[in-house]
Amino acid sequence: MNPIHPDLAPLARAAKTFGRELLTTGNVLDLSTPLRDCVGGRIGWLRPEHRVGDPARYMRHILYVDPEDDFVITAITWLPGQRSPVHGHFVWCAFGIAEGGLTEERFRAPGPLLEPLGSKVLRAGELAELDLGGPIYHRVSNHTARPLVTLHVYGVAADRITTGINRIYPGE
Ligand SMILES: [Fe+2]
Repeated sequence: MNPIHPDLAPLARAAKTFGRELLTTGNVLDLSTPLRDCVGGRIGWLRPEHRVGDPARYMRHILYVDPEDDFVITAITWLPGQRSPVHGHFVWCAFGIAEGGLTEERFRAPGPLLEPLGSKVLRAGELAELDLGGPIYHRVSNHTARPLVTLHVYGVAADRITTGINRIYPGE
């Protein structure tokens, strides 16, 4: 196994089983419990640079790469005012809030226009809804005055991280 912070090791083990089970049987195992543990208290993995970010855009930090390319664990730093484009996902993904506050807007696109499904604010220790790579789009923003750090698990190989996760909504 690649080096990993001990606080993240149970999440990596769960993600391995989660990904394999989803692929082979379609069963959706529990990933929320180990993910919640990593954002709701055991945040020893969070380093000072995760609070610094990049003024140009939200910044992704790779924390762990599965040696068989089943998944990656990343932290993302969002400075005040930063947000993602409206996007869906090509792969399964789960994420939670390690520090700060996040606004998530969700959309569906049955035709050429986006239809808002609602918006909610998530705080440290809380998780967004698991996405199995379905048709729903979302936009994630930091509307607070402090940096936001989120923890993500994506069912993607590390060399596809920039193009293989987000399905950007046309025009974004
Ligand atoms: Fe996303």
